[in-house]
Amino acid sequence: MKLAGVRRVVIEPRYEAWREAARALLREGVCPDDVDLVDATEPLPALLFDPAQPEGDGQHRTGAHIRVPAEFVRRAEVVACHRERERWNLLYRLLWRLQSERGLLRMELDEDVARLRRMEHQVKYDLHKMHAFVRFRRGMDMDGEHFIAWYEPAHRVLGLAAPFFAERFAVMRWSILTPDGSVSWEPETKSLHFGAGVSRERAPEGDDLEEMWRTYYKSIFNPARTNITAMRSEMPVRYWKNLPEVMAMPEMLQQADARVGGMIAAQANASATAFVPQEHRLPVLQSALPACQGCDLYRCATQAVFGRGPATARLMLVGEQPGDEEDRRGEPFVGPAGRLLNELMIEAGVDREAVYVTNAVKHFKFREQGKRRLHENPRLSEIFACRPWLLAEMDAVKPKVVVCLGASAAKSLLGANFALTRNRGQVLASPYAERVIATFHPSAILRAEAERAAGYREMLVQDLRMAAEMAY
Ligand code: URA
Ligand code: SF4
Repeated sequence: MKLAGVRRVVIEPRYEAWREAARALLREGVCPDDVDLVDATEPLPALLFDPAQPEGDGQHRTGAHIRVPAEFVRRAEVVACHRERERWNLLYRLLWRLQSERGLLRMELDEDVARLRRMEHQVKYDLHKMHAFVRFRRGMDMDGEHFIAWYEPAHRVLGLAAPFFAERFAVMRWSILTPDGSVSWEPETKSLHFGAGVSRERAPEGDDLEEMWRTYYKSIFNPARTNITAMRSEMPVRYWKNLPEVMAMPEMLQQADARVGGMIAAQANASATAFVPQEHRLPVLQSALPACQGCDLYRCATQAVFGRGPATARLMLVGEQPGDEEDRRGEPFVGPAGRLLNELMIEAGVDREAVYVTNAVKHFKFREQGKRRLHENPRLSEIFACRPWLLAEMDAVKPKVVVCLGASAAKSLLGANFALTRNRGQVLASPYAERVIATFHPSAILRAEAERAAGYREMLVQDLRMAAEMAY
């Protein structure tokens, strides 16, 4: 802490804020000993502030070129995230000295340089920990699935950490909340948005994502590189007990042999791409579909269900995934939702025989309850994994209009953030088709109580009628 009486400059805790203040001070020729750079988050008694702000000598650097080596910028951006209040002063002192001491950063024994290095290591270690230990929880909001994590880093590393998560979880909509700030990722626009911090009390509750973590770790786990010693050194033992992936470890190691040379697709990057033939003719696609292992859904379902309808159809309807009956019979929309869809199409004056009907996801996802198999919504990662099949079908049929029945199909073609409540019944452009209309799924009618059901039904018929009018 510097003596009262020196000039104080308050710095918002961001590298850019420091840079701006430091440049101004340097131009003014303010010697590091004559200034105290105070972090804005630091509670300072008002008395310590000296209203008289002594000027520097103001002469020798005005207008002069400021020397800022690229290496210093790189390291200063890291050290700026440190919580130590002296970092701003340290950085300014180094910047000041760099103006005349060219080889300064190479002088490892210099006290300032050694301190820079120490802080840099501490921040980088904290960043590494954040990459490893952030846990997302799955939540739902108006726009669908949203993964949320609350984390309290030792230093202010959120900004440094965000790109790592953007790359790892590019298809998910997620937010990481910390007490200092928050960041959200929009997979649609591929952009990061920074916002205010969130206290621990406001952080989301519930642990249903632990399971997803295990899967995630299993799928990125590369058996060819299994090295317990290295893992231990990466992950201090005291953290191990809290890590769900550690529970998955023995199983992972057991499976390692079988998987070397035939790595499974990572859950986060699951995709049917490798299984979809180059030639997009319906019979070719249909005969290749049963071999798909683009995501984990093939494991439990009876069979993959391909679309049905003429290759010349001008109207394509896309559902979510096969239901129980579809899974057994191998045809789309032949169960209760399908029978209702037939009725609605008749009402809307649409000839089902002339329409191509398919699903966003080709395998049935369910959970068993006694003898019953209960439908489960596919995850966004599964919808995206299966999308290559849907796109190939669309390429084969080239419909004039595509109708998405329900949110899953809409997310596949219109993006993760698509919200039925907002854009139902509108004609939308998608990256994959010129005209896409999203509407309710027939099963929404089956599930809703009578009054609502009648409303859904009316809107669905109206949307189907509009789609048919545009297609023919
Ligand atoms: N629901 C769907 O979305 N698709 C089907 O094929 C059956 C029910
Ligand atoms: Fe392949 Fe789609 Fe089945 Fe997943 S759901 S295995 S991507 S066909």
